[in-house]
Parts: sequence; structure tokens; C-alpha cells
Amino acid sequence: MRVYCAKDYEHASRTAANIISAQIIMKPDCVLGLATGSTPIGTYEQLIRWYEKGDLDFSKVKSINLDEYKGLTAENDQSYRYFMNTHLFDSVNIDKNNTFVPDGTEADSEKACRDYDEIIRSHGGVDLQILGLGHNGHIGFNEPADDFAKGTHCVKLTESTISANARFFASMDDVPKEAYTMGIGSIMQAKKIVVIVSGEGKKDIVKKAFLGPITPQVPASVLQLHSDVILVGDEAALSEYNKGV
Ligand code: F6R
Repeated sequence: MRVYCAKDYEHASRTAANIISAQIIMKPDCVLGLATGSTPIGTYEQLIRWYEKGDLDFSKVKSINLDEYKGLTAENDQSYRYFMNTHLFDSVNIDKNNTFVPDGTEADSEKACRDYDEIIRSHGGVDLQILGLGHNGHIGFNEPADDFAKGTHCVKLTESTISANARFFASMDDVPKEAYTMGIGSIMQAKKIVVIVSGEGKKDIVKKAFLGPITPQVPASVLQLHSDVILVGDEAALSEYNKGV
């Protein structure tokens, strides 16, 4: 694993954007695996700036997102499709027909997951997967579990996640109780993986995930087995990791 220790969030974002940018330049029709969450927002903003300068062309790029809330439409401002449109797709020349997010409106979970695995398969897998890291080591919506889930699956959100999300919705009933997520197996099949971490709040889980034992109780720890992972973080997030190596 290669580790880039950036001085702050902006620097980490530019570093991650540089890696994505290199991927697009080297393979204009590449398949990017994309994440939502607060961490990659700075990376997406940087990519937009380079696109606006004429340095990046997304016209042939394809993207496959990690996850989506079950039951939310693309128009719902809490859906991950909405997030991707707002934070990246609407601002670059990517063809939206080439952007994939699990279909939150598909009520049949088995069908939604099967269809998404077929989308991943038919694109020949992901060239470059972008990941954030949850405080409990989750990647996508793969939460700590007894085993590593291979393919796309439907996850029941924990009570704590549901109540944490409640502030974004009109009532508790509107808060999604389930989500669709790409499996650990699909994530591990990406040719290259970039994990972006930022802030002191991530320092303990970064150390645990990348220096601790490989266990499904810390889903990101499986990344230690991947042959091409780049960890990009700011000093705050990498501080405990750096002490441990
Ligand atoms: C979202 C996703 C999640 C986030 C993780 C970290 O698509 O994959 O696993 O990456 O929850 O979120 P932030 O970046 O908000 O700390």
C-alpha cells in the first residue's frame, strides 16, 4: 500500500483528484467507482475545476457508485444519486447514461442487487475505486459483520444510523431503513483503490483498518489484501497510523 500524507484536507483532496485525473487521462473510457459522504467532496470540487480549465474530459468516463438508500428517488435531496448529480455529474461533461447508482426505487431487493452486479460485470469491473472510511471501518454500506459480503446486497441500517439521519428528514417514518451497497468482493476486484481520509476523528480507525488484524468486524481491513491501494489522508487522519508503521 502506498500512503500519501497531505498537510490538510485541501491538499489531500488535490492529491486524490490528481490520481483520478491521471486515470482519466491514461484511460479516457475508464470505469470509476465513486463514493459519497463528506470526504470526497473536495476531490470532486477539484476535478470540476480542472474540467472547467479544459484539462479533463469526462465524455467517455463511466461511473459506478458504491451505494444508495432503498426507497429514495433521484430527486430526493438525501439520495446518493442526488448527491452525485449535485457534487460532480451536473458540473462536468459526463454522460449521465454512463453513471450508475443502485436503484433506490426498486422495491425488490434481490432484483436491485442482481441488476447492479450485472452492471458492474458488464462494464468489466472498476478501474479505479474511490473509498471513504466510516468511523467503525465500514466501506460503502458494508458495516462490521461476521463475514465479508461478496456482491451487492441490501443492508438494514442500524438504529443509531437511522436516528442520526433523522435530522435530514421531515419525520422518522421518512428515514430510510435499508440501503443497497456494492459488496466487499466487488470492491476488492477494482484494479486500483484510493481511500481518502481526513480529520482527527478518523485517526483511530485508519490505524485499526490498515495496521490491525484483517477481520469483517473492521470491513476496511480487507483492503490490506489488495495489491494496489493508495491511502490519501491529511496529517490529522494519518497521525496514529504514522506512529504505528
Ligand atoms: C458513501 C460511503 C460511505 C462513506 C463513509 C465515510 O458512499 O461509501 O462508506 O465513505 O461513511 O463518510 P464521510 O466521508 O462522510 O466521513
